[in-house]
Amino acid sequence: MFFAQIGIGSMENFSYLFADENSKEGMLIDPAFDHEKLCQVIKKESINLTRIVLTHHHYDHVNAANAVKARTGAEIFCHRETVGLLRGGAAHDKLIDDGDHFMVGENEVKVIHTPGHAPGSLCLIVADRWLITGDTLFVGDCGRSDLPGGDFAALFGSLQKIKQLPDHLIVCSGHNYGSEKLRQLGDEKRLNPVLLAPDLEAFKKC
Ligand SMILES: [Fe+2]
Repeated sequence: MFFAQIGIGSMENFSYLFADENSKEGMLIDPAFDHEKLCQVIKKESINLTRIVLTHHHYDHVNAANAVKARTGAEIFCHRETVGLLRGGAAHDKLIDDGDHFMVGENEVKVIHTPGHAPGSLCLIVADRWLITGDTLFVGDCGRSDLPGGDFAALFGSLQKIKQLPDHLIVCSGHNYGSEKLRQLGDEKRLNPVLLAPDLEAFKKC
């Protein structure tokens, strides 16, 4: 499967682009700041973009979604709790929720609802290889829960969900905030204090 981690904007954001090797059907996660840059990669790789997925509603993850949609015809997917919070940067076409599966060409994508950083935060497992975590989990840390709609206890619960996932998944986070741009979930479980915290009290001290 084609995979690209695209650093974008002035807030160290990452957008992610996936495409099926044969059919060229593609999916873009969290388009922001620079639709030209994203569309150039889509064009260069001859990708037929059918889906734009928003991991959550924050402006720095969605503000190029409408522009990419206009250029490619892709539909915008997000969680129902994201819809009412989207402002100015993205419309939405279809809802996705915890437990949903869909295909990008021959590749399965699984949806996990991980509230806490934002109420509609989603993680995605792509082709049993990549774990898109948005701002829920970063390399070596997690997202904040003190923004409007954030929930500290829910974030801890979502991190416990992520801890149950297989070690071989590659964590693809929403910002370049860590010591590495990508790291296996097994290493996060071993090294990331927010995943090592056994309970809420310990998590508070992270
Ligand atoms: Fe965020």
